[in-house]
Amino acid sequence: MHFKFLIKNYFVIFLIGIIILSGCQTSTKDLKVSIIPKPVDLQRTETSFLINEKTTLSVGNELKTHTNFLLQEIEKCTSLQLTVTDAPTENFIVFLIDNNLKADNYHLNITNTHIKIEAGNYGGAVYALQSLKQLIKINNLEQTKSFIVPGLSIKDGPEFGWRGYMLDVSRHFHSVKEIKEVLDFMSELKLNRFHWHLSDDQGFRLEMKKFPKLNQIGSWRVDRNTTDENINAVWGRLPQQEGEVASYGGFYTREQVKELIAYGQERNIEILPEIDVPGHSQAIIASYPELACEKKKYYVATGAVRENNTLCPSNAYTYEFMQAVISEVAELFPIGYIHIGGDECNKSNWKKHAQCQNFIKKHNLKDEHGLQSYFIHELEKIVNANGKELIGWDEILDGGLAPNATVMSWRGEKGGIESAKMGHDVIMSPSSYQYLDFKQGQSDFEPNLGYAQTLLSKCYSYKVIPDTLTQQEAKYILGTQANLWSESISDWGKLTYMTFPRLFAVAENAWTSQKNKNWDNFTERLKPQFKVMEKQGLRFAKSVFNPWLHHQGNGKSIKIWFTSEISNPEIRYTLDGSEPSAKSNLFSDTLTIEKTAIVKAALFENDSRLGDVIEKEFFVHKAAGVPVKIVSETDETKSKINLNALTDLCYGQLLERGDTCWQRFDNTVEFELSFDKPTDIESVTIRSLRHTLQTLYAAYRIEVSVKDTDGFKQVGDSGYLNENIIQGRNLFSNTVNCPTKGVTILRVKVIKVKEIPENHVNEGKQAFMKLDEIIVL
Ligand code: ACM
Repeated sequence: MHFKFLIKNYFVIFLIGIIILSGCQTSTKDLKVSIIPKPVDLQRTETSFLINEKTTLSVGNELKTHTNFLLQEIEKCTSLQLTVTDAPTENFIVFLIDNNLKADNYHLNITNTHIKIEAGNYGGAVYALQSLKQLIKINNLEQTKSFIVPGLSIKDGPEFGWRGYMLDVSRHFHSVKEIKEVLDFMSELKLNRFHWHLSDDQGFRLEMKKFPKLNQIGSWRVDRNTTDENINAVWGRLPQQEGEVASYGGFYTREQVKELIAYGQERNIEILPEIDVPGHSQAIIASYPELACEKKKYYVATGAVRENNTLCPSNAYTYEFMQAVISEVAELFPIGYIHIGGDECNKSNWKKHAQCQNFIKKHNLKDEHGLQSYFIHELEKIVNANGKELIGWDEILDGGLAPNATVMSWRGEKGGIESAKMGHDVIMSPSSYQYLDFKQGQSDFEPNLGYAQTLLSKCYSYKVIPDTLTQQEAKYILGTQANLWSESISDWGKLTYMTFPRLFAVAENAWTSQKNKNWDNFTERLKPQFKVMEKQGLRFAKSVFNPWLHHQGNGKSIKIWFTSEISNPEIRYTLDGSEPSAKSNLFSDTLTIEKTAIVKAALFENDSRLGDVIEKEFFVHKAAGVPVKIVSETDETKSKINLNALTDLCYGQLLERGDTCWQRFDNTVEFELSFDKPTDIESVTIRSLRHTLQTLYAAYRIEVSVKDTDGFKQVGDSGYLNENIIQGRNLFSNTVNCPTKGVTILRVKVIKVKEIPENHVNEGKQAFMKLDEIIVL
């Protein structure tokens, strides 16, 4: 009995032991290794290591000068101040140089007693540190005193030497503190070139000793910002007016630049300065109008501009000025390159300018492209004489490439391919894959910050080496970079939203070999990174984990379906306006709605939501399927219009390319809708688009009338919708209340802005409208 009891007790203890052990094993096994960019080789072991207040740090002789940086970086993600020792015994982290490893390569070994980092150089040590920091962060969201990391062995190194991120600080100035944060997040993703777009039409951002007006005048503009993220009004902001004071902007002093260069060096990042000429130079000519062809008063641009913003290339002083600017820049920045821009140069002023035309003849140049090419060639001589290489946007190919130039290919890959075939170095940054100022989700569900679309999946699908290059030609591709133009990026939250998560994809394109990349695996690794960003309170886009909502109306009902950027999505939805949960309907097949519904949907995994809830109200309204005709006299586009589209229950989206819901009207138009039975109505809503840069203006006034015994009687009038004729790009929905009983014939007059108003980009031209639906409730 006693013996039996003992046995039973031992058995229970044994069982408890098994449970505890297997519990430990499970937790070690469950530790995450989702490093981005993906390392070349990563082998998991069964163990783990706990970083705590007893853990010590050892640093090999070659890295000693960086000890403080390593300590601070570990402290940043653990709050632990590790003790430094030269004789570690157990529970230690050690950083060593191994001369057998290539530059920027590293080995990271995590055992149950220590973490050992061996690196080919300081850069390799920084990258090992970043891998370790990611392991700490993704595995310790809640920890405060000790930090578990999985046992593993990593052998890693970069695929490309140029792994860049460009920030435009001209359209919106970003503080020194913010630039440091940029360098921090770049370093965490093993990016190593910060391309600093320091001058453009909206501000010159670098302190210049020789040309103080570049800072006194060129660094400041009048503030026409809007904080409303639904309004994208970068194009056509009212220019600075006589008497207005320009006070928005700033510049970086030479001391601040030096501080940032050092901050970058500590993170193994070089800073590439860009002075964008001869186009995009309005801030320069506002400071020194003698540099323009037409000598008149210029102002620093308040928003996007596309003319009167060029330097004069037939003027000897322009070259003297550029020589002085380039030598100051060359002296300040240690990197071996200077970027001189060269993009989107509007040459209309050169065409009109007799001196430029004589210059073209005198130098046997073909045309204005030849003149730009002449200018770039001259600049290259100056850049080279100052001990640097020239980089320019791919427009520097037009009219003949300067002999030693490196090309940054942005208008697709073509310029990069052509340059590599000519034996020129190339940095690939094609806009359709690598531009971070484009929207990253379905346009209706994104903040209105971008004017085109580059989804995370598109960004990730980018192959840096084009298939058309031979192995030899491919050697000229130095790497790739992402560009964030900041026309709409007026604050830090917008900057991080547009940057993340796409910078993860850009980093992996640049660091990881094409054969080691995999979209499904990438999105899995992204999930823990999202948790970290959430915890940090960073604003970032979850769009990749949002469903895409599609619909097709047929004048009676609306078919609705969802897709996703990720594989095997679990999409759940509601139609009654309630918040979707893990228990809501699972989407499997197309739905049909026959009455007005608020559709809400989200992606789920393991009972929790992955991204955001998307939401859209679909009206199945009283005029659904009702025949529409045009009763106004002027309408030259009548034949091309599908009038049925105005009552078919198809609702257009903001980025309208190829969206057949939108119908174009070149004139004020009056529609007549004939109901098949008397209908009581409350309101009429007209949805219209505006994209004023393309002369597309929203409805300016809406008048509603109904037929009664004496003819037509007005029952509603919106009055002039003045906010609809501000410049910008967005979608309007304007409702006219017009409660009327027993309507059989309804007329809706949509009045177009008569002539594009003064001070608009397309001043004096004719506007057109796009409407998708006449919603009658
Ligand atoms: C550019 O996007 N204009 C280089």
